[in-house]
Amino acid sequence: MAGTGDAHMRPADQAVLRGDEVVVEFPMKRGAVVQAVSGISIDVLPGETLGLVGESGCGKSTLAKSILQLPPPTGGSVSFRGKELTSLSREELRQLRPQLQVIFQDPISSLNPRRRVRDIVAESIAIWGDEAGDADERVAKVFTDVGLDAEVVGDRYPHEFSGGQAQRICIGRALVPDPEVLVCDEPVSALDVSVQAQILNLLEDMKARYGLSMLFIAHDLGVVKNISDRVAVMYLGKLCEVASPDKMYAEPAHPYTEALIAAVPSAEKIDIDAIPKGQLPSPMNPPSGCRFRTRCPRADQLCADEEPQMRRVAPDHFVACHHPNEVTGDVPVPTAASAG
Ligand SMILES: Nc1ncnc2c1ncn2[C@@H]1O[C@H](COP(=O)(O)OP(=O)(O)OP(=O)(O)O)[C@@H](O)[C@H]1O
Ligand code: SF4
Ligand SMILES: [Mg+2]
Repeated sequence: MAGTGDAHMRPADQAVLRGDEVVVEFPMKRGAVVQAVSGISIDVLPGETLGLVGESGCGKSTLAKSILQLPPPTGGSVSFRGKELTSLSREELRQLRPQLQVIFQDPISSLNPRRRVRDIVAESIAIWGDEAGDADERVAKVFTDVGLDAEVVGDRYPHEFSGGQAQRICIGRALVPDPEVLVCDEPVSALDVSVQAQILNLLEDMKARYGLSMLFIAHDLGVVKNISDRVAVMYLGKLCEVASPDKMYAEPAHPYTEALIAAVPSAEKIDIDAIPKGQLPSPMNPPSGCRFRTRCPRADQLCADEEPQMRRVAPDHFVACHHPNEVTGDVPVPTAASAG
């Protein structure tokens, strides 16, 4: 089946990170299987931020971890700069690790409580070696870049920091090895609303300064809209729609995307969890055909019989639906002036 549903993918040699038909299954008791990711293809170009959104439990974290080989997917392939990752030895993967960094939702619990933050940020140099030979300098620079003074905070322990500051430390730790890709798994969801924007701004700054490509996961479309070059909407282990945030907001083609956008009057802050769950199916026993059909007002026999494949509805706008909304593709491109 490799290659189906790939209409939104760009040529393989352009991608820095690419997953093809990625499948992740968890074996359960009595032969049951949870298929958390059911054949998803995504790619991230150099310098691009791909936003990935979907409700809790749809498989976002599982997809991200499998792309990072933590652990590898049970099916499909993943490549980094054209190199297939799923067949690498542990040692080969270890050597690539510095290039592929990740930050998680809960910063404090992802920091070792018994280590001083200077040692935590310097950790990757200890693990992967310090080829440049200027470890102390690099750590001090990273502290400054993420807005912390190493002289003041370096000797403290993680519990002495607020969530926002702890996330700065996690970002610093991820940046020390000068990675090419940063995967952000809901990096602001656990933070106070007042500091969310600061951390998002910091990530955008760091993206430019360190030349990062990002896979940015959120369940809040508002967050993803502002930070992403493209957005992929995920539902129950599959992709529904891929487009630039402007196109997706102006003309959502998939009924699920439309529901996400319509759920809250202000498009600035949309919480997917606020949408009625309807009959949210289990990934152990997903519906036939289109997975969204048990909640879709448009579902018909075709939707039950045939899985919709991803197809192009306008330039750079793709949807997997038998009866999508009409899309004109006539969306004004934001100018440098309007983007502020
Ligand atoms: N180790 C595991 N064993 C069994 N099932 C798992 C495991 N990890 C995840 N799952 C299941 O896989 C599905 C996807 O989970 P995942 O954590 O990837 O979702 P998510 O989109 O990241 O959700 P959230 O927004 O809550 O973080 C869920 O049904 C979850 O229960
Ligand atoms: S394929 Fe059918 S059920 Fe699925 S989203 Fe489209 S119209 Fe709804
Ligand atoms: Mg998650």
